[in-house]
Amino acid sequence: MSRVAVLKGGRSLERQVSLRSGARVEDALERLGHDVVAIDAGRDLVKQLRDDTFDSAFVALHGRDGEDGTVEGLLEMRGIRYTGSGILACSRAMDKVLTKHLLLDAGIPTPDFFAFNQTAFRELGAADALPAIEERLDFPIVVKPSSQGSALGIKFARTAADVPAALVAAFSYDGRVLLERHVQGRDLAVSVLETPDGPEALPVVEAVPREEDFFDFEARYGIGRTTFVCPAELPEEVTARAQELGLATYRLLGLYGFGRIDLMLDESNELFVLEANPIPGLTETSLLPQAAEAAGMGFDELVDRILGTVRAQALTPDT
Ligand SMILES: Nc1ncnc2c1ncn2[C@@H]1O[C@H](COP(=O)(O)OP(=O)(O)O)[C@@H](O)[C@H]1O
Ligand SMILES: [Mg+2]
Repeated sequence: MSRVAVLKGGRSLERQVSLRSGARVEDALERLGHDVVAIDAGRDLVKQLRDDTFDSAFVALHGRDGEDGTVEGLLEMRGIRYTGSGILACSRAMDKVLTKHLLLDAGIPTPDFFAFNQTAFRELGAADALPAIEERLDFPIVVKPSSQGSALGIKFARTAADVPAALVAAFSYDGRVLLERHVQGRDLAVSVLETPDGPEALPVVEAVPREEDFFDFEARYGIGRTTFVCPAELPEEVTARAQELGLATYRLLGLYGFGRIDLMLDESNELFVLEANPIPGLTETSLLPQAAEAAGMGFDELVDRILGTVRAQALTPDT
């Protein structure tokens, strides 16, 4: 038995999902016989980490603070071992633009894109580059903030007239946005889990929208509007290729413990990596638990295995 802090909630826009992931992880850890302390990652996070003693921390935070390496840094300062990826991998994965440059560099396919920060618009006249970009990417164009999750701030621009509003929306989430080529096709996710022999890809999950409200993208991803098929019904070689790209991306970014890579499959069976999630959802309807289930692994075993991968942190506590 060990004393485990479950970090959940936090200040991110994905707070509600994280509270659900965290609650489920707590239940599983209790069933596994651990002494569990739930911590809502807020103003007193450091104090709570300081005033108690933990063998390890299970980080069930999504989005800002948890997935970007901030909380991992605080845990390292306290000398507390934690689940999942380290600071560097989180920093890379949380930044879609950086991730895509790394993918390009490694020869891993990702949709063509351009990225700007707000300053480029205000002070460098980046708006004047839009017509050329639109011509290169072709409509519809996907506009998204560089960091975010759960499809927040993502808009599909059908025509040039839609682009300015889509940019404003994306800039409201992040100081940097990307315009990306739209991939017409199927939405796939490859979850990866660390094993004693290294990372392994779980069965592929396909997200199928229930209604064809293609352009109302945020609504489409609302509760109950999407069904998940796992294992995804794909030709064997497409499944193998998706898992290979998922693993290659996981390794490229330096992810550890677990993670989920989101991809698109186009109509000629070409795969493109969209992004990587260092701390994917762990709720009843989340993709990683479904993929684990399809591989014959129940939620408790999944949580047990993730906890089993915690690494000793480099820094020692100063207490
Ligand atoms: N270039 C694209 N072409 C088609 N669909 C896209 C594209 N980019 C994003 N999407 C859709 O938006 C969803 C969320 O995008 P993603 O890049 O995974 O960001 P996040 O999950 O962090 O919000 C994807 O699962 C996919 O359905
Ligand atoms: Mg995604």
